[in-house]
Amino acid sequence: MAVLEIMTYPNATLTRRAEEVEKVDGKIRKLISDMVDTMYANEGVGLAAPQVGVSKRVIVVDVRPYDPSTSLICMVNPEVVSEGGEVLHEEGCLSVPECVEGIKRREWIKIRGLDERGREIEVEGEGMLAIVLQHEIDHVNGRVILDRMSRIKRDLHKKRLQKAKMKAG
Ligand code: NI
Repeated sequence: MAVLEIMTYPNATLTRRAEEVEKVDGKIRKLISDMVDTMYANEGVGLAAPQVGVSKRVIVVDVRPYDPSTSLICMVNPEVVSEGGEVLHEEGCLSVPECVEGIKRREWIKIRGLDERGREIEVEGEGMLAIVLQHEIDHVNGRVILDRMSRIKRDLHKKRLQKAKMKAG
């Protein structure tokens, strides 16, 4: 078990597009397992590799606290197959501390990628699962919730976070 350090905005890894995983090997499996540990240790419902400083397209999601009919999802190179509807929901992010804002998302989503053994998998979700999947896919594309807010709110939170970072040295 390894709990990794979580990067916070404006860390550079969080704001660039993460790299495609060429091969799902032991190193990627270890990353996935550490990401799951880190997600649970922080009581999160999702985590993307850039949040632990690794610029790779890997996400883990577990929304069972909100939707017991779901399960733990670990996906490499996730891509959206189809999506629809629209929903507004309050979101926070471990990498954007003390920020909870209403974010517009698709209501349902179908995504495709590889599991921890490199096999192709598809996942369909609605409600909380759909929201968190979109949130984590945003992360591997270098987007955080700030990028989905109105300009006024975004500027406000960015200023606050940059200030906090400067204070922390
Ligand atoms: Ni996040």
